[in-house]
Amino acid sequence: MNKKFNRTTVTSALPYANGPVHIGHLAGVYVPADIYVRYLRLKGEDVLFIGGSDEHGVPITIKAKKEGVTPQDIVDRYHNIIKDSFKEFGISFDIYSRTSGPVHHEVASDFFKKLYEKGEFIEKESEQYYDEEAKQFLADRYITGECPHCHAEGAYGDQCEKCGTSLSPLDLINPKSAISGSKPVLKSTKHWYLPLDKHENWLREWILENHKEWRPNVYGQCKSWLDMGLQPRAVSRDLDWGIPVPVEGAEGKVLYVWFDAPIGYISNTKELLPDSWEKWWKAEDTRLIHFIGKDNIVFHCIVFPAMLKAEGSYILPDNVPSNEFLNLEGDKISTSRNWAVWLHEYLVDFKDKQDVLRYVLTANAPETKDNDFTWKDFQARNNSELVAIYGNFVNRTLVLTHKYFGGKVPERQELTDYDKETLKEFSDIKLEVEKLLDNFKFRDAQKEAMNLARIGNKYLADTEPWKLAKTDMSRVGTILNIALQITANLAIAFEPFLPFSSAKLRNMLKLSSWSWSNLGSIDLLETGAEISPAELLFEKIEDAAIEAQIKRLEDTKIQNEINSYKPEAIKEDVSFDEFMKLDIRVGTVLECQKVPKADKLLQFKIDDGMGGRTIVSGIAQHYNPEDLIGKQVCFIANFPPRKLKGIESQGMILSAEDANGRLVVVSPSDLVTNGVKVC
Ligand code: MF3
Ligand code: ZN
Repeated sequence: MNKKFNRTTVTSALPYANGPVHIGHLAGVYVPADIYVRYLRLKGEDVLFIGGSDEHGVPITIKAKKEGVTPQDIVDRYHNIIKDSFKEFGISFDIYSRTSGPVHHEVASDFFKKLYEKGEFIEKESEQYYDEEAKQFLADRYITGECPHCHAEGAYGDQCEKCGTSLSPLDLINPKSAISGSKPVLKSTKHWYLPLDKHENWLREWILENHKEWRPNVYGQCKSWLDMGLQPRAVSRDLDWGIPVPVEGAEGKVLYVWFDAPIGYISNTKELLPDSWEKWWKAEDTRLIHFIGKDNIVFHCIVFPAMLKAEGSYILPDNVPSNEFLNLEGDKISTSRNWAVWLHEYLVDFKDKQDVLRYVLTANAPETKDNDFTWKDFQARNNSELVAIYGNFVNRTLVLTHKYFGGKVPERQELTDYDKETLKEFSDIKLEVEKLLDNFKFRDAQKEAMNLARIGNKYLADTEPWKLAKTDMSRVGTILNIALQITANLAIAFEPFLPFSSAKLRNMLKLSSWSWSNLGSIDLLETGAEISPAELLFEKIEDAAIEAQIKRLEDTKIQNEINSYKPEAIKEDVSFDEFMKLDIRVGTVLECQKVPKADKLLQFKIDDGMGGRTIVSGIAQHYNPEDLIGKQVCFIANFPPRKLKGIESQGMILSAEDANGRLVVVSPSDLVTNGVKVC
């Protein structure tokens, strides 16, 4: 395990190109991967960072069908949006390519062919649902029906979204094709399977014995898969979108998306480095690291390694740092329910604040368990950490240097014991951050980097150079020299985490040499060197900006309730005569006020065209009384009067109850005479 590595290939899961990317993607995979890569680069190591879009699979074809466009149209649209978002957030890929491209098609196809020729697959016929009208086999997602567990309608062939149970299409009661709506029939079809059961022994030893250092969530999931026993997995599908199975007699069949996608890491490397890609994938002194989310663990720790092993010439991953999920304000992030913070939208509302989001997502990284993103926490971390600690320290140091030394780094004279203590404390931080980053503990590593700023802040607060300025300028010079050196250290320590602010700070300091090995040095800035005027690294985020985001999420919730609203069943029939007994009239609200000591009740004075009447109605929580004055409403006029809170109510105002329980009064769509009948 203490092998000598000379280069590192870092991959990050290829996101599906069927929607834009959100904070969950960033927190789960791309920010940690980027931190790690930037750290290795700062250390001067040989590293390659591979990304790209995953452009095959059934959901993309479903979306295309819904919109009446081709799958290629869909992936073209989202590939570019996703690629731009990553670029904007400083995710420093060496290449970001895509699986619908020609290089990938060739590499994946050849990979399959090699395994096929080596006899690494088994071929099996099985019965699958077929749509006779659409003349095609149906992917699991294309079949809906009644869930055998909770009996909800509309469960999918792979999962019931109501109760969460994993299903197989054959489990569904009354299956229906999502394409034609017809009842599918079972038909025999041939597929190629990767016999994972044959790989079980070496996988067990490789993971369970040799990789005990993997994160407990990853190791644990692998162990439970292995303990359940592995089964052969189909690597082809009956579908017309994907990479054709390169075997005779396989018309209409493509590679399963989870077979081709991880090969995308390889083909993207080859696209970038057509002549030297192999050493990044086959040399024994190359270390391979996959950054993924927890739903990808089995594919990266079991299926893909089995594919690589079966091929025979590839190395296996050294580590697979996988995160758990990030929730948003207590609820699971969901693309279909629009419960997400989309990266391209964030940048509109929080222009140039990429680092703030990076910081907050790392501070709350779901490394060991699911975690929650809240806007209040986002604001607090910005205002009381980035602004109050890091930004404030840098700003004070630079402003004081300009004020007392004309923007030139002052000379450092003899150090006091307190100076020495401070320097000792901060030189320890380098080793600490390193140890944490080497172990993929990004959250704690960033905390340590922030401690460096804390040390600086405390140093200035304790030494109070502004008070010494009148009496002892040489002491002030020493203090500011030390503070400036800490500032320069911060620019290095934060570069993996907050690359935009680090670049800004380096420019302010005119810091020319900055590599990881410089971290801990107190000679990063030469005496007499000039620095630029101080600019703010971070700015306070006001309540209004946060409230606007929270309001947006609340609106989304309401919209979702409306979208998922199922009208109640219709009541049993009434006769025309029964209906005609109800006397519904129109009137204008003359007065409206809250009923004292009753939070639900409003008291109305209605012009009913017959001298007026009083009605009490339970809609106080849905209206400001003054907003109703002058409005025409419909009311039942022949209810016997009854007393509510001591007030005699002479009828009932009609209102509609919205999906979210909101009551809305019913009004005629045009002005009518008060007292007329509604029928
Ligand atoms: N598209 C998959 C997802 O978003 C991840 C694919 S990772 C790869 O869950 F290995 F297949 F590339
Ligand atoms: Zn169910």
